Amino acid sequence: MNDLKKYIDQNQDRFVKELFDLIRIPSVSAKDEHKPDMLKAANWLKEKLLKEGVDKAEVIETEGHPVVYGEKMLNEAYPTVLVYGHYDVQPAEPLDLWNSPPFEPEIRDGRIYARGANDDKGQMFMHIKAFEYLLATNQLTCNVKFMIEGEEEIGSPSLGKFCEDNKEMLKADVILVSDTSMIAPDTPSITTGLRGLAYMEVEVTGPSHDLHSGLYGGAVDNPVNVLCEMIAQLRDENNHITIPGFYDDVLELSQEERAEMARAPFDLNEFKKGIKIKKEGGEKGYSSSERTGIRPSLDVNGIWGGYTDKGAKTILPSKAYAKISMRLVPHQESKKIEKLFKEYFESIAPETVSVKVEFLHGGEGYVAPTDTIAYQAASKAFEATYGIKPIPVRSGGSIPIISLFEKILGIKSILMGFGLDSDAIHSPNENYSLEQFRKGIETIPHFYKYFAEMSK
Ligand code: BES
Ligand code: MN
Ligand code: MN
Repeated sequence: MNDLKKYIDQNQDRFVKELFDLIRIPSVSAKDEHKPDMLKAANWLKEKLLKEGVDKAEVIETEGHPVVYGEKMLNEAYPTVLVYGHYDVQPAEPLDLWNSPPFEPEIRDGRIYARGANDDKGQMFMHIKAFEYLLATNQLTCNVKFMIEGEEEIGSPSLGKFCEDNKEMLKADVILVSDTSMIAPDTPSITTGLRGLAYMEVEVTGPSHDLHSGLYGGAVDNPVNVLCEMIAQLRDENNHITIPGFYDDVLELSQEERAEMARAPFDLNEFKKGIKIKKEGGEKGYSSSERTGIRPSLDVNGIWGGYTDKGAKTILPSKAYAKISMRLVPHQESKKIEKLFKEYFESIAPETVSVKVEFLHGGEGYVAPTDTIAYQAASKAFEATYGIKPIPVRSGGSIPIISLFEKILGIKSILMGFGLDSDAIHSPNENYSLEQFRKGIETIPHFYKYFAEMSK
């Protein structure tokens, strides 16, 4: 593939322009008002796939947002790669913290600034451009299928059924995904683990309506105070989660496995500097990489109730709310954790309030074995671009559908991510460096080449 770099050099400006067109469609899956944008983005992708030369491409309706499917079946004897990605993005708010509008992409200091620049429009688009190159230069040696969904950021509620309904169409030897990150621009890595998730919302109710805090304060339990006390009881002084049974299924790693993990470079000072904290936190007895990679965690994502507008209002609120999510590790099951959380949360509520606990979404973690052809092909592909072997890393993030792919379709995934920690995904000023975008397009064709060679 000696023409690969030249091809990218000659076409990179066009690649970026095309990506900008996709980014300009504000496909925020969480918000009803963006429903038309979801369809627009899906159609845009369908047209793009057709233009690059797939045999067929469709926008397939689901109960939620549509899935884009396309395929190029070259030869029955070739292995088939199913590329998964998502065209939906997280809401862009808070808008005032963006230095340029989130859906008007802008390049500054060699980075594309926009919502979706990395997650996952930028990363997913690298696959379409790698496909363009392989087909245009007659070097494609695999069959390729694309499945690009619009509900990843809301927990992929329709994709499980979509897979059940389309098992035959989705048949493949491997699923290839770029929706994770790598260690550093000069330190490639392959994600070998993802965490699961159980996302809860709780409501604590005290009196039937907001009360005058002078007339009632001190004599009536305040649901906001109570909620804070309840949340405080979810973890102990060692930052161990206190929900009974929570750790029962956690897969404990051996000392050897932990020592192996510790060999992956991690700079605690850089980690702290990057997010401007003085000291890291977390469960006692574990390193920062272990805390995100192999240990579960519990976080309040948002908490509200009472008066939060300008100035002071003296009330004792009727209600308090919180969104609480737990990241899970292999062998923990989100449904079981949901039940344990609910039981415990209800059990610690004082008689002065009533509580409601709702499960918003969740899914299981994932472990990718390194002794497969697909992993070896990915490893060699990174080596071809970077000159060094990538390091296997367990990520703290979640893509719950990946474990469902294995369960429903029986296909393992390769997580070949090109994001960087500095990309601010889900945050204001999300960005993706042109260099990473380019390196991704350069690495993916090598994967196809090695995967076909090694599958023979
Ligand atoms: N692409 C991310 C997940 C990710 C990012 C994994 C970086 C590893 C490294 C994905 O779009 C995402 O945001 N997932 C959600 C889960 C979902 C159910 C909302 C997450 O991890 O919060
Ligand atoms: Mn993503
Ligand atoms: Mn995301």
